[in-house]
Amino acid sequence: MTLQRGSSDACRRHAVTRYCQRVRGSSRCAAGAVTVIVLLLAGCRGNNPEYGHAYAPPTGGDPARGLAVIQSYDCGSCHTIPGVRGAHGLVGPPLLWFSRRTYIAGELPNTASNLVRWVQSPTSVEPGTAMPVLGLTDQQARDVAAFLYTLR
Ligand code: HEC
Repeated sequence: MTLQRGSSDACRRHAVTRYCQRVRGSSRCAAGAVTVIVLLLAGCRGNNPEYGHAYAPPTGGDPARGLAVIQSYDCGSCHTIPGVRGAHGLVGPPLLWFSRRTYIAGELPNTASNLVRWVQSPTSVEPGTAMPVLGLTDQQARDVAAFLYTLR
């Protein structure tokens, strides 16, 4: 019994030593594993703010006026918006890095015309959404879109 346990311990020690030797000897294999992990992470970077691709499509709007519209309609009561004083709302998603977003509200590809449509008429895209129709004119919606695309 004792002998058996002793021999299995020795066997285990031996196996560990062999394993360590194998691992030590396989730095090339480890480098390969690191490469795979890096590639996997790169594949996942999608909208990562560090690496994501920011786009600022033409909107026909003016970002400075858009900021004023956002302030006067108090979008910040529902959204956290960088660069807008008091915009710390948590009802809707934070509008950080908006120019890197692939989808608007998870529904529409993030293009200028879709963004204009969303801010003017969110319920026509998503009938049950908590975001209300605020009555923005076409120009106001374009200005808001221009501002949102400055968030990169
Ligand atoms: C009463 C709260 C409320 C107000 C006010 C509001 N929103 Fe929203 N907003 C929401 C909610 C909730 C969503 C999420 C909609 C969804 O995904 O269904 C949203 C989504 C959005 C999105 C898409 C966000 C994303 O992550 O894709 C944008 C852009 C947006 N709002 C802009 C605005 C702008 C600009 C204003 C002001 C003109 C505004 N919102 C006012 C609640 C609000």
